[in-house]
Amino acid sequence: MAKLAVTLKVNGETKELLIKEDALLIDVLRDEVGLTGTKKGCGEGECGTCTVLIDGRPVNSCLVLAALAQGKEILTIEGVGTPEKLHPIQQAFVEEGAIQCGFCTPGMVMTTKALLDREKNPDEQQIRKTISGNLCRCTGYVKIVKAVKRAAGEL
Ligand code: FES
Ligand code: FES
Repeated sequence: MAKLAVTLKVNGETKELLIKEDALLIDVLRDEVGLTGTKKGCGEGECGTCTVLIDGRPVNSCLVLAALAQGKEILTIEGVGTPEKLHPIQQAFVEEGAIQCGFCTPGMVMTTKALLDREKNPDEQQIRKTISGNLCRCTGYVKIVKAVKRAAGEL
């Protein structure tokens, strides 16, 4: 298959890449850009582990052609916080014990960020509805909901 030259803006940095025409954003982020914080779970739009923000909106990056993300602002978990300086949402997840295996966490944090960027004080129903596309096999969601509330308070 022919390769395509694309320019992606990821976490504020411009990346010039040569990719397959049908390459998915999740694969380009992980394999070409080297940002492996975004996880690939189902690969079918069902689990939300691959959530990134495109122009501030949460999307399943396993369902997006990388070529179509040109000209947009892509934000991944690496652009949210660092191990040395966690973002308040990440800190809240740690403090509420909302992370067990951690596989869902990057996607949960990105979905939470999109929510809190537009809604400063979401109620429990809003939080549960918003994260309903992000599956967690470990926590039972109670601690995640608490973490989102705590993060809203911090922010
Ligand atoms: S890997 Fe994208 S939704 Fe599951
Ligand atoms: S912490 Fe394991 S899937 Fe959510």
